[in-house]
Amino acid sequence: MSSSRDVPVVLRRDAHRPGPGPESAPVPASMPTAGPLVDQYGRAHTDLRVSVTDRCNLRCVYCMPEEGVPFLPRSEILSFEEIARVAQVARSLGVTSLRLTGGEPLVRRGVVELVRQLATVGFDDIALTTNGTGLAPVACALARAGLHRVNISCDSLRPQRYAEIRRRGDLAAVLAAMDAAEAAGLVPVKVNVVLIAGVNDDEILDFAAFARQRARTVRFIEFMPLDAEGGWRRDQVVPSDGVLDRINERWPIEAIRSPDGDPAPADRYRFCDGAGEIGVVASVTRPFCGTCNRLRLTADGAIRNCLFSDDEVSVRALLRNGGSDDGIALALRRSVWAKLPGHGINDPGFLRPVRSMSMIGG
Ligand code: 5AD
Ligand code: SF4
Repeated sequence: MSSSRDVPVVLRRDAHRPGPGPESAPVPASMPTAGPLVDQYGRAHTDLRVSVTDRCNLRCVYCMPEEGVPFLPRSEILSFEEIARVAQVARSLGVTSLRLTGGEPLVRRGVVELVRQLATVGFDDIALTTNGTGLAPVACALARAGLHRVNISCDSLRPQRYAEIRRRGDLAAVLAAMDAAEAAGLVPVKVNVVLIAGVNDDEILDFAAFARQRARTVRFIEFMPLDAEGGWRRDQVVPSDGVLDRINERWPIEAIRSPDGDPAPADRYRFCDGAGEIGVVASVTRPFCGTCNRLRLTADGAIRNCLFSDDEVSVRALLRNGGSDDGIALALRRSVWAKLPGHGINDPGFLRPVRSMSMIGG
């Protein structure tokens, strides 16, 4: 059997150009123009991830370079009203859950106000992914504005190592943010840990103990080829199955059965003897593309159907030049219809996407 292990991952440096606007290309004959947002493989899309900024106050090694990050000019970033309009159209097409991401969403001024606007649209679930550094002071305001819950990234429980991985920021503030989020009712708090072999995989049991002691959910995420520096190597990926085995040997865990076809990316486990939960996001070793229900809106107004696909449809011109809601709906349908069956990370010849994680939104 041939292995994709030795296939080099090419870092693409060609210019980023979102695809044509919805008016400029013919609508595929087989694409539905009413009903839920389905793709050609029958996957209904009910989850929208909105990146509110490509900026961040940290420079995590698996995401951004340390220096010289080119940020989008402010004029290219969607306003809150523009974001709310896309969200509203998405809601009318059956999208029921919304997540705000970045970069770091909380570095954009007024995110509480954005949450307030989005809460009026009527989503079942509004969540936020944050690095936690600026969360504690605004946790209550976010909850009052209508945010339901948060995911907080934290890749080490050792202050020195935390600082090395994230290059900036301070572990104590992030741990305090978890407490503040819980006190504000932004629950369940999920703690995202990107594991990198030889960097923090010796902390798997420490994180499991942390989940148990604090009755929190810790989710181990496999390192994906989305780092801006193109440094990702397959041998740096810590396979989720091994993570689960190691935890299970120490503290037996059992799978939390999710309903058939549940699109949640994380496989969930509980400890047999008590509180806390473990999740694994095995994007590389066990891709979950077959049940993917996600759609993304980048900070500069591109609809993106997969983290790994550069095939984007921009809605910014529509939003700014008097386009109709129907036009925006068509752009969403077009993007979903163009979605590939899988991300292809494990295919020979896989090409890394042009945009890295902070430019797409997690
Ligand atoms: N691989 C896996 N996860 C990543 N994240 C950022 N970059 C990567 C990567 N290259 C994570 C962040 C955050 C979420 C949005 O995505 O840590 O938890
Ligand atoms: Fe910022 Fe999140 Fe990227 Fe880290 S992973 S640099 S916190 S956007």
